Amino acid sequence: MADSRTTTLYALVTAAAAAGAASTVISHGVTELIGNTPLIRINSLSDHTGCEILGKAEFLNPGGSSKDRIALYLIEQAELRGELHPNANNCIFEGTSGSTGISLAMVARAKGYLCHIVMPSDQAVEKSQLLQRYGATVERVPPCSIVDKGHFVNVARQRAAEHAGGAYFVDQFENLLNAQAHYEWTGPEIWAQVRGRMDAFVHGSGTGGTIAGVARYLKEQNPRVRCYLADPQGSGLANKVNHGVMFADSEREGTRRRQQVDTLVEGVGLNRMTRNFARLVADADAVRMARWLVAEDGLFVGSSAAINCVAAVRVAKMLGPGHTVVTVLADGGQRHLTKFWSDEAMTGLGHDVQAPASLDEFLG
Ligand SMILES: Cc1ncc(COP(=O)(O)O)c(C=O)c1O
Repeated sequence: MADSRTTTLYALVTAAAAAGAASTVISHGVTELIGNTPLIRINSLSDHTGCEILGKAEFLNPGGSSKDRIALYLIEQAELRGELHPNANNCIFEGTSGSTGISLAMVARAKGYLCHIVMPSDQAVEKSQLLQRYGATVERVPPCSIVDKGHFVNVARQRAAEHAGGAYFVDQFENLLNAQAHYEWTGPEIWAQVRGRMDAFVHGSGTGGTIAGVARYLKEQNPRVRCYLADPQGSGLANKVNHGVMFADSEREGTRRRQQVDTLVEGVGLNRMTRNFARLVADADAVRMARWLVAEDGLFVGSSAAINCVAAVRVAKMLGPGHTVVTVLADGGQRHLTKFWSDEAMTGLGHDVQAPASLDEFLG
């Protein structure tokens, strides 16, 4: 469980945000810029569906994504447990496909820690470049199964064990404080911003932390709030739904159809049953939604935000006009320029990169 001192801190921050007081406060360093992100009405999607489709603008966090929250929360929890001491050669280790690493590297710098990130080599190169600019040590390893000792998460765990000096292995996939951060922080912010009036929450799942934490909080406030998981095609969960096969202790190697997630969307797509734990969103729909959002709303978002928006429109259509659907815009498109936002790369994969003339053209 979280320490009561941090619980109080996040409650205060949330209360200040709800009261609109944050803008008058001078932030003490970059970490105090994390959270209290705006909730924006996505006009084109709202007008099209007759619902209020609201996006939590997490790309406005200083590290550029919702992962800033868990980076700060988990590091502060480790400090409170006495596992991390600043300016003492202590190092934070994590295996991550990118966003969490960038947030950890930023918070590490701000707080006086070293940071070592292990990531799969097939992720967009600008993520590792950004990590290096933040002063992190970056190791890119070939993608492989979680049961392989060369998997990026297992390599990160091993590096932490080898480190001479204080080491903290974050383990965002299995660390339940990940969901706890969203339960104490993101969920209350959303609830305050909608003033307790919302019908549905829609989110993808990378580690499962956001949907688990936010959904738990929202359901506690009002059990009638519906929570939907937006998952891309080709994820492990998609295989579970379509073929009954997913990585879990009960499903041994050899019975699975494939090893890695098979989608171009980065950051989301469950490929194993995590402790933090529909209709699937096609990659083609995510590519077109992202182009639509720029053309119609001036919103330049990453692939997981695009998936969330596709699912939010589907949920809105299912619920009918007059409902409020909240989703999360986890990061911006800047981090995806060489893959998801590269017309050349997407065309090479057979995707249409023209902004659609109407939402019905691809979501009808
Ligand atoms: C850009 C982006 N969006 C969304 C997610 C999913 O969030 P969560 O890990 O809380 O399920 C991730 C996580 O890895 C991510 O990097």
